[in-house]
Amino acid sequence: MDNQSLIREIREKVDIVDIIGERIPLEKKGKNYWAVCPFHDDTSPSLSISREKQIYTCFSCHATGTVYTFLMDYENMTFPEVINYLGERIGIETKSFKMKKKDSKYDKYYEIYDFCVKYYQNNLSTEVGVEARNYLQERGITEEIIKEFQIGLSLNSSDDLTKLLTLKKYDLTDLNTIGISNYGHDIYSNRIMFPLHDPSGKVVGFSGRIYGHDKSSKYVNTKETPIFTKGECLYHYHIAKEEARISKKVIIMEGFMDVIRASTIGVKNTIALMGTALTNEQLRLIKRLSNHIILCLDGDQPGKNAAYKIGELFLKENIEVKVITLPNNDDPDSFILKEGKDSFLSYIENAVNYNDYKIKVLGENINFNSAEETSNYINRVIEEISTIDDSIRTEIILKKLAKDFNIEYNTVEKKFLNLRQNSQKQAPQQELKKVSISQKDKYRKAIEQVIYFMLTNDWVISEVSKERLLISDEDVRILVKEIIYYYQKYGSITIADFMTYLSDKKELLVSLNSIINEAYMDQVNKETLYLYFKVIKEDTIKRQIKVLERKLKEELDPKKQAIIGNEIRALRIGDNING
Ligand code: UTP
Ligand code: MN
Repeated sequence: MDNQSLIREIREKVDIVDIIGERIPLEKKGKNYWAVCPFHDDTSPSLSISREKQIYTCFSCHATGTVYTFLMDYENMTFPEVINYLGERIGIETKSFKMKKKDSKYDKYYEIYDFCVKYYQNNLSTEVGVEARNYLQERGITEEIIKEFQIGLSLNSSDDLTKLLTLKKYDLTDLNTIGISNYGHDIYSNRIMFPLHDPSGKVVGFSGRIYGHDKSSKYVNTKETPIFTKGECLYHYHIAKEEARISKKVIIMEGFMDVIRASTIGVKNTIALMGTALTNEQLRLIKRLSNHIILCLDGDQPGKNAAYKIGELFLKENIEVKVITLPNNDDPDSFILKEGKDSFLSYIENAVNYNDYKIKVLGENINFNSAEETSNYINRVIEEISTIDDSIRTEIILKKLAKDFNIEYNTVEKKFLNLRQNSQKQAPQQELKKVSISQKDKYRKAIEQVIYFMLTNDWVISEVSKERLLISDEDVRILVKEIIYYYQKYGSITIADFMTYLSDKKELLVSLNSIINEAYMDQVNKETLYLYFKVIKEDTIKRQIKVLERKLKEELDPKKQAIIGNEIRALRIGDNING
């Protein structure tokens, strides 16, 4: 069975209502089921699930998809994982399911990295690795951890690995490209080697640490290569991915020694930024793991600054952030070594909400003897609180503020209510923006409605192919083509299956989702369908006229001007006849 058929068969045998209903409460209203949307900060049910169409849509955040995308997003599963999970559930063999390998041209690179991991591991376990092993032992890194994290050792040699790899017939150019060699020399020499994995768990780079008396830079990381981008790398992500699914939260640390140490006490839902910066790409990757983030950066000033900055980034994404503040000179690694497991677990347990953390940080270094500094501080705090969407919490903070600074509660509250009103005035503006994005003109709506009819009434597909409509917008034009292609190939079409079919074509999927979100009509008769066709044709002619008019303005040759003028007139007449 080919992939698409398997995907369709599973989708037909599984009911989206069951799958979502097992995870979040549903309520039946009319034809559809409704739920509080798990994909945004929702309070009233805005997620609608259609048993008939086997899709869900959120009228607030516009999340749209099938049983497949729901499980991928809600359970953080990959597509093959979902296929296996559902296949097992309904007793369908899914072994024949194969993901297209996208980057097979890089297979060679992954192969070299796998070899290097084994080579470095072997070095560490032999005679030459004694000194490095002693260093690791002194740091409390046991044999077990060495194995688990595939820690190894590069030799004190300038070309041992490169020679070995070229003997194995690997190309020197490839070794240069992927950051293993440099003109016949090994990049790493005499360093403890930590493999770096991509989100799927493949080794794509190394970080090599000095040990003993070496004075050069502490860590050397793999350069940017076709398979490794430092700004996208998150240490331990491939493991945290599974762990976060169970614990429903992710702990972010700075260094990989922190992650390794936490793992020794059973805390494995951790990732390391490999520094204190968080890139957009890393943020995107972390968002896929969980909606609950705990920042556990170093206790020093750079660590605190980073927590303040990074917390804000997550907050903007509507993700719940908490912060752990470690003692000044500790990182998670040293803290766990000194204070032990229970103490660290209680720090996790008592992580403070980012908003509270921010208020605390705002108060650091304020001279509370100065009336000006104090009132600035109070105003800043109230400003911060006005964005919190939890009236009990805001009241507690306001009361404490009034008490701490001996101000009338009314005064504090009044200021708060003023700011709250302003921020709420801003909120509907955001709503407006959303609406205006979907403010599509008459023609766009006509073509979108036709596409929706194609997906709900097979007969419309052949009407559209017969009609040979000229569609100006590229995305919908390709959508129409894809629907016709899909229908010819599989003999039938449903919205859910077509969505899954488009999952590799992200841009088309965005257009399709936007169409589904518009709540177009399901049913149509021929006569009405032809009214929609008419609107689309008028649009095509109008656009052609516009192009010609622009040409006419730029044209200097009177003869050519006349020709263009005639073309425009001809189109106008056609337009009138049609209309
Ligand atoms: P740290 O200096 O805190 O490293 O840097 P660490 O993990 O605590 O390591 P130990 O305990 O000294 O062995 C945090 C992270 O910043 C990156 C590394 O990824 C490190 O884990 N870093 C640090 C570098 O890339 N290069 C450096 O020279 C230093
Ligand atoms: Mn550190």
